Amino acid sequence: MPSSVIIRLEEIYKIYGEGETEVRALSGVDLLVEQGEYCSIMGASGSGKSTMMNIIGCLDRPTSGRYYLDGEDVAQLSDTTLAHVRNRKLGFVFQQFHLLPQLSALENVMLPMVYANVSDRERRDRAVAALTRVGLANRLHNKPTQLSGGQQQRVAIARAIVNNPVLLLADEPTGALDSHTTQEILNIFTELNAGGMTVVMVTHESDVARCTRRIIWFKDGSVVHSHLSPDALTQLTAQQSTETQKDSVPSALR
Ligand SMILES: Nc1ncnc2c1ncn2[C@@H]1O[C@H](COP(=O)(O)OP(=O)(O)OP(=O)(O)O)[C@@H](O)[C@H]1O
Ligand SMILES: [Mg+2]
Repeated sequence: MPSSVIIRLEEIYKIYGEGETEVRALSGVDLLVEQGEYCSIMGASGSGKSTMMNIIGCLDRPTSGRYYLDGEDVAQLSDTTLAHVRNRKLGFVFQQFHLLPQLSALENVMLPMVYANVSDRERRDRAVAALTRVGLANRLHNKPTQLSGGQQQRVAIARAIVNNPVLLLADEPTGALDSHTTQEILNIFTELNAGGMTVVMVTHESDVARCTRRIIWFKDGSVVHSHLSPDALTQLTAQQSTETQKDSVPSALR
């Protein structure tokens, strides 16, 4: 069966400011991600990973270039249609969970269904199913402050998958978690991917990237490796940590 392309980025540029303050956050990104892939995106701080995730997630528009999401030319869509596409096709998970503190886990997960034309009963059933899928069937009525960091992130994942998106986007989803909880969250992503969901995740940790099936490496606003081997990843991360150490030494001492 031929696979379908979920993300197609062609020559994407994102330029902030102008003149002396101009920043080229993305300079000519080309990327293809097919249905069912599980990718991680790595690269130095400031290399443009979040900027690209915001464009893929239709939270921001590129300065130039073409973006097709699940076959649809995103540039042609009005802001309102784009908001609907985002709600229907995409799920988001962030480093800082972004749950509403006054709502229970169940209510937080029911939120994205306000646009979906479904009854209150069905919204509730679907939210319970999503929370059960991430192992939180026994925490439906807890508020975020009554949950651990890992549990809060699981609520955020349930919220991201409740509309059954074609693409799950995660920007450093384990950045605020300890290593044990990180593994729990990665297990959930692996299971979701095994169930057919396309997952794209930004991470700074090579151990996290190794749990995915494809590693993409970013440098200075472009994709420099679209399928990085685990061995090459070891070399690149070693090289990067040496560069970071050098940068932290005052230049007078170098
Ligand atoms: N709203 C903005 N206005 C101006 N410059 C911006 C804006 N957002 C990002 N940038 C710049 O664009 C570049 C890419 O930033 P981005 O946040 O995408 O990097 P990143 O790879 O996600 O970094 P990190 O690993 O630290 O999260 C950086 O130089 C950043 O300072
Ligand atoms: Mg970032």
